[in-house]
This record gives sequence, structure tokens and C-alpha cells, in this order.
Amino acid sequence: MESFSALIKQRRSTRKFTEEALTPEQVEMILKAGLMAPSSKGKNPWEFIVVEDKDMLRLLAGSKEHGAGFLEGCALAVVVLANTMESDVWIEDAAIASIYMQLQAEELGLGSCWCQIRNRVTAEEADSNELIRRLLNIPYQLDVLSIIGLGHKAQERKPLDEEKLQWEKVHIGKYE
Ligand SMILES: Cc1cc2nc3c(=O)[nH]c(=O)nc-3n(C[C@H](O)[C@H](O)[C@H](O)COP(=O)(O)O)c2cc1C
Repeated sequence: MESFSALIKQRRSTRKFTEEALTPEQVEMILKAGLMAPSSKGKNPWEFIVVEDKDMLRLLAGSKEHGAGFLEGCALAVVVLANTMESDVWIEDAAIASIYMQLQAEELGLGSCWCQIRNRVTAEEADSNELIRRLLNIPYQLDVLSIIGLGHKAQERKPLDEEKLQWEKVHIGKYE
């Protein structure tokens, strides 16, 4: 990718992946991006769980009613957690780490999609975060914000269209 602006234009959510695994180097680079994400007061309240096991990916795909199914077909998922007691802005910190990893994946030519877990429920109305905490042995002080599904793209998506940017949402000087 020749520039950052080209990268952010190119990045679209990928929900269909090939069977090809990620290399250890690719996984390391994606995790490095998460670990280099900025956080409030430099507290780095996030932690990441890398999941490659197909059975576990299938269970994660069922962790909420809508929008998690794609996790079943990804090569690897990064479950993004944060220590809710360590930072009052853990949501922001974990969100930034999530998107950093997505952008790094794009730069490697890989596809990714965010699966929202915080404030979501399963088909049986159970809390998705609680379900995943049980599945992955996550201690009580950590909550799950998102799961980033990753893999080699099995679908072509058009880059974002600059002609469609919502410039009306940008206000100069005052909101008027
Ligand atoms: C906070 C957040 C939560 C999201 N949750 C989901 C989700 O649970 N499942 C899903 O398939 N996509 C999810 N997405 C992806 C969005 O649907 C997607 O980014 C949006 O439709 C724009 O499309 P694009 O990423 O291709 O540009 C989420 C994205 C964000 C930023």
C-alpha cells in the first residue's frame, strides 16, 4: 500500500475468508499494532486473546444473535479485552487498539471485520460478554469489547467512494 490515505480508502469489512492460515509474522505484526495503540494516560488497559481453534471460532460465532456468524470462517480472531477497573475510558482504548489491528491487517493485504460484543446479547438474550468470558476463562476484571476476525480475503470490496463522503457533518468554527 503506497500511502496511509490509500490504505484507509481501501479498508472495507471482509466477512468471507479463504482457508489459508496467517503466518506467524503476520499475526505478530497485527498484535504489535494493537500493542502500539495509544491509550489514555498510557495505561494500556487492553489485553488480547488470539483464537485459531476452529471449534472455538464456531462458539464465538454464536456469541451474539446477529453479526458474529462470519467469525466461523475466519483464519484467526483477536478477542479484544480491557481492564474496566484500570481505566474509566477502557472502551475508547480498546476501540483504538481494535482499529489499529484492522488497519495493520489491511496493510498486509489481509481482510478483517469488527464483531461488536459489548452491550450485545445472544439469541437467548444472554450477555455476549459473559458468555465469552466463560468460554475463554477471562478473569472478572476484564470485559470484552470486540472480536476482530481476520484472514485472507475471499471477496472483493470496492474502496470507499470519496464522492460520497458526508462533508455536511463537518462544521467549521461553530455548529450552524
Ligand atoms: C463499533 C463497530 C461495531 C461493528 N460491529 C460489527 C458486527 O458486530 N458485525 C459485523 O459484521 N460488522 C460489524 N462492524 C462493521 C461495520 O458494519 C462496518 O464497518 C460498516 O458497515 C462500514 O463498512 P466498511 O467497514 O466495509 O467500510 C462494526 C464496526 C464498528 C466500527
